[in-house]
Amino acid sequence: MSKCETGKERTGGEIKKYITTSPEETEALGKEVSGVLQRGDIVALVGELGGGKTCFVRGLARGLGLRDHVKSPSFNVLNIYDTAMDGRKALPLYHMDLYRLTGEGDFFEAGLEEYIYSQGVSVIEWADKLNSVIKNSAFVLRFTYIDENRREIILEIRDSERSGGNV
Ligand SMILES: Nc1ncnc2c1ncn2[C@@H]1O[C@H](COP(=O)(O)OP(=O)(O)OP(=O)(O)O)[C@@H](O)[C@H]1O
Ligand SMILES: [Mg+2]
Repeated sequence: MSKCETGKERTGGEIKKYITTSPEETEALGKEVSGVLQRGDIVALVGELGGGKTCFVRGLARGLGLRDHVKSPSFNVLNIYDTAMDGRKALPLYHMDLYRLTGEGDFFEAGLEEYIYSQGVSVIEWADKLNSVIKNSAFVLRFTYIDENRREIILEIRDSERSGGNV
């Protein structure tokens, strides 16, 4: 399991730092985070190419009960999955990748805000392309490539109600 190296309190939230040493560990972190998600949550993923963002989404989707294989939405910007959570009502999962987005205009024209302010869970790669997305996110995760198999992942829990959960 991913190691939590540091954890410090911060006004309005909590920040935790993890080092994962394999794609499986990054997936496992995604699965853990899925356990505290609520309807309407936005999970913002930030960090360079190959940082492990899609890998994290695979674990998160699995944690929400999704059986399908999660593919990178790079080319079509948005993939929608219907999840089936045990003991919890199914949540639609909106997986977006804003890499190719050139600005706010594109985002609104594509009608993407309609999804992120809906009753599903939105997980958004390259979320830092849009300030408004980061501002409204319940969780912000920053991925940094250390070496071939290691990634540093900084998890910021914005919504203080969720602090101290089992992430
Ligand atoms: N600890 C690790 N965590 C996640 N991925 C890892 C790790 N170690 C190696 N990898 C490899 O790094 C790659 C991560 O790719 P992934 O598509 O998840 O990145 P990404 O951040 O989504 O990139 P992009 O910005 O292109 O969408 C995969 O090939 C994966 O096998
Ligand atoms: Mg990706």
